[in-house]
Amino acid sequence: MRIRNEPPSSELTPEPRYHDRRRFLNSLGAAALTAFAAPWVRADAPRVPPTAKAYGLQKDDRMTPWEDVTTYNNFYEFGTEKSDPADYSATLQPKPWTVRVEGLVEKPANYQLEDFLKPHTLEDRIYRHRCVEAWSMVVPWRGVPLASVLKRAAPTGGAKYVEFTTLNDPKQMRGVSDPVLEWPYVEGLRLDEAMHPLALLVTGVYGQDLPNQNGAPLRLVVPWKYGFKGCKSIVRIRLTNQQPKTAWNIAGPTEYGFYANVNPAVDHPRWSQAKERRIGEFLKRPTLPFNGYADEVASLYAGLDLAKNY
Ligand code: MTE
Repeated sequence: MRIRNEPPSSELTPEPRYHDRRRFLNSLGAAALTAFAAPWVRADAPRVPPTAKAYGLQKDDRMTPWEDVTTYNNFYEFGTEKSDPADYSATLQPKPWTVRVEGLVEKPANYQLEDFLKPHTLEDRIYRHRCVEAWSMVVPWRGVPLASVLKRAAPTGGAKYVEFTTLNDPKQMRGVSDPVLEWPYVEGLRLDEAMHPLALLVTGVYGQDLPNQNGAPLRLVVPWKYGFKGCKSIVRIRLTNQQPKTAWNIAGPTEYGFYANVNPAVDHPRWSQAKERRIGEFLKRPTLPFNGYADEVASLYAGLDLAKNY
């Protein structure tokens, strides 16, 4: 996604970092072992348990192994390489953690994370996760619906958007001394998108607390949008009447729109969005409109030109 020192576009149709021989052979092995079923599925990818709450998955979707979910990350506050977040985020201190809820709400407050999550019960939900860089994963997240948390703050009638802001602390985040993005990292949703039951405030993955590199202790996951909407390590949620200025849109307005709905028909100016590489798999898969969640969310965008509002 980087804007500065752009690598050639061949690198940007991301060949995951599977030049590691063992993993590369694994994916070939997976293809051989399951040749009659789904030749692209890798052998060590855990199956979706039959009792799991899985949303928008296809028949042959397997979960992306923990190792990949936690070592192939984007979290520019720790550096721009996919391995940087796992290598350098041990300095982040997710406990204790304060979340400020403010703006156009009747009940603005500073919460400790535990109070912020009360009285909700954490839910496990398996979602597809599609990065704008044309790679994807299937991730078992743990979290609470964003809508129920927002309702507690009681948005006023004038609230139209929700802005999410990441921690910006150079002592904990080595990457924020590099102006590769405007810090703090900010993301936003329209209020009706934020109220959609699929939008999740995530505290965990694979049944465990979020590792720092995945956005501990609290991050957003909006499964029908490109992954950059999933603001990590959130310290502030602000309800506004104006469309928030978001980090990637500021960095590259023609490349990263406010909506960021997964859309195979609208290419990124520097690469195609028609296909994606599931991390760990060998062959590319076709990208689905709204990342496979069209039945649930397409109505939010009725009448909107999705080629202009990318
Ligand atoms: N949040 C912050 N604060 N900083 C970031 O650089 N990167 C985004 C998003 N959230 C990012 C962020 C991008 S581009 C993606 S694809 C997802 O996080 C990646 O989430 P994951 O590393 O858990 O897969």
